[in-house]
Parts: sequence; structure tokens; C-alpha cells
Amino acid sequence: MIEAKEHIAKIKTYKPGKPIEEVIRELGLEGEIIKLASNENPLGTSPLAIKAMRQALAESFLYPDDNCFYLKNTLAKKFNVTPEEIIVGNGSVEILPYITLAYLGQKDSAVVSQGAFIWFKIAVDIAGGELIEVPMKNYTHDLKAVAAAIKENTKLVFIANPNNPTGTIVKKDEVEEFFKSIPDHVLVIMDEAYCEYITDLQYPDSFKIYKERDNILILRTFSKIYGLAGARLGYAIANKNIISNLMKLRISFNVNRISQIGGKTALNDYDFIKKSYESNEKGKQYLYDEYNKLGIFFLPTYGNFIFVDFDRDSQLVFEALQQKGIIARTIKEYGFPNALRITIGTEKQNHRLIRTLKEVMQH
Ligand SMILES: Cc1ncc(COP(=O)(O)O)c(C=O)c1O
Repeated sequence: MIEAKEHIAKIKTYKPGKPIEEVIRELGLEGEIIKLASNENPLGTSPLAIKAMRQALAESFLYPDDNCFYLKNTLAKKFNVTPEEIIVGNGSVEILPYITLAYLGQKDSAVVSQGAFIWFKIAVDIAGGELIEVPMKNYTHDLKAVAAAIKENTKLVFIANPNNPTGTIVKKDEVEEFFKSIPDHVLVIMDEAYCEYITDLQYPDSFKIYKERDNILILRTFSKIYGLAGARLGYAIANKNIISNLMKLRISFNVNRISQIGGKTALNDYDFIKKSYESNEKGKQYLYDEYNKLGIFFLPTYGNFIFVDFDRDSQLVFEALQQKGIIARTIKEYGFPNALRITIGTEKQNHRLIRTLKEVMQH
């Protein structure tokens, strides 16, 4: 047998939420199937982005702009940074292994919370670095424990804020304290995939921290509120030196021209962003009320999904929902065998979810 490198062979492949097509193939279901498994935007894609992407389709014979000039410039203007401080990825997860490959040697360590977004661990494994896992406190990152876990060889710390799958956040004061307490040579990745859903004033302003420090990288995505998960588009903002190193690892033309145009347009589709935010808030409130009435434990969320604990193996609930055409997400691999992560859907989808859960729980 041809052996792969040891640290590559032991990587556990990421299992995403099931696509609708797969469920249809496997279960032969008829009728409308709803996917509440991957925290996509239930309202769809920004209509302005769709229009722009349609126009761009005719230019598919041309390679894209390798440096994403227009998209980077639009982002730079929005965040008051320079294009040299931005890298764009084929989804934000593409950038995670670039960070570990560039900054984590095999003798170095990275600190990740147990129950944090699982791609952090995969990225550490890809580079073959040491993974230091820290227990969470009240289902969220325990920043004091994270700081205490940093060793001399620690190069990276990963924080998802809000965290997936728990939907919890670490707050402004805690984050500012945290940065003061850690060495400057430790790069902190703040993954803010769901930040556009948050208006809470206690949510940290990572750009303020970025203006004061060199050891923060802000990771964001177009997959959530902008509705471009299928177009695969994400970006990171960090100092020029870090970005120039990450750019060296990028495969040429990693971001296709349709997505570049879609992202640039979606960023300024304020009407769609507002509608998506409002729909999420309304859905959240409805689902909180219904889960409370059903006596189901859940975590209040800062994202577009809710962590719901069924107090029994959630695989059974997952399968029963799936049989009835609703795809949720099990999160055993995050250490939560009794919980499901369920995306907040449209009003109609949320009503169907609750109706179906009631039927399922009676049996
Ligand atoms: C915390 C977090 N980061 C990153 C991502 C991945 O985003 P992308 O689609 O940009 O790769 C997700 C997706 O669910 C997420 O929950």
C-alpha cells in the first residue's frame, strides 16, 4: 500500500449537512424537502447578486481576475482597509488550511475549544501541528481557559464568534481582556461567519481590535446572510504581511468570476440584508416560544441556527424528521450526541418544523 503522510492519513473528513438531492436519492421521498442543516439563507440569494451573476455567465470562457480586484476594493472600502489586507477564498474554509500551513509548524501548537467549529481542528491536522483542546464553559469559548492553555510553542488560536454549533458569543469585554493577556506572537483567528445577524452592543468590534493589534485575523463569509453558499465565497482580513504569505498558498484562480461579481453586488444589497435579518429575528422568536412550550432545551442564538437538546440520542429525532422531509444536522462529532443544530427557516418552514417535531415527539 502507498502510505500517505501520517498526519494526513489520520484526518477525519468533514461531513457537511446532507444535500436535498442526497436525501431524495436515499429515501425516495416525494413532496417538498426542506434543508435546515447548513445554515444557508432560507430567503435564497441576494436578487441583485443573481442579476449580476446572470450577466457574468456569458463571460465564463474567460479566466477570472486572479486578484479579485473589484471585490477586494469593495470590501476594502466597506471596512476601511486596503486591498492588500484581504484574501478571498472559495468559501471562508478554504483560507483555514492556508493559515495553518503558513503559520503552524509540526512542532507548534494551536488552541481550539472543544465544541467549536470543526474545520479549525481539520486545518490544524492538515498542517500536522499539535492541537490543544480546551473545554467550553456554558456552551461557549472560555477565553480565560484558552489564554491559560497557550504554551510557548503556540502559534494560533481559533475562535468562532458566534460559535457553530452552539450559537453563543464571547463578548466585547472578555475579548479585549483576552487580547491583553496573550503574547503578541500568537495569531488569533476570529471567525465571524454569522456577524451580520448580530446587533447586540456587547458583540466585539473586531475591526477596533485589528486597528490596535497585528495578531488578529478576521474571517468572514458570503454563505450566510448574503445567500451565496453555493457560489463559495469568503474572505479574511489581516495585516499585509500575513495576507501576502497566505496568498502564496492559494491555487491560481481559486475564486471564479461569477462569484466575484455576485459577492461584490451582494455586499451592497441592503434591502436583501435587512429582509434576511428581520426574517431571522422573527423566526428565532417564534422557535424560542415553540421550543419553550414543548419543554425542549435550546440555546439562545446569535446566528441563523439553534442548538436544540432533546435529552436523548438525537439521531432518532434526526431520522424521524428526515423521513418527513426535513433535514436537520446531528452534531455528535462536536461532542453533543443529544442535540441537533437546526437552521432558522422561512416562516412556513419554521411552522412545518414545529408541526413535524410535535408529531415525532408523540411517538
Ligand atoms: C463558524 C463558521 N465558519 C465558517 C463557515 C464556512 O463558511 P464558508 O461557506 O464560507 O466556507 C461556517 C459554515 O457553516 C461556519 O459555521
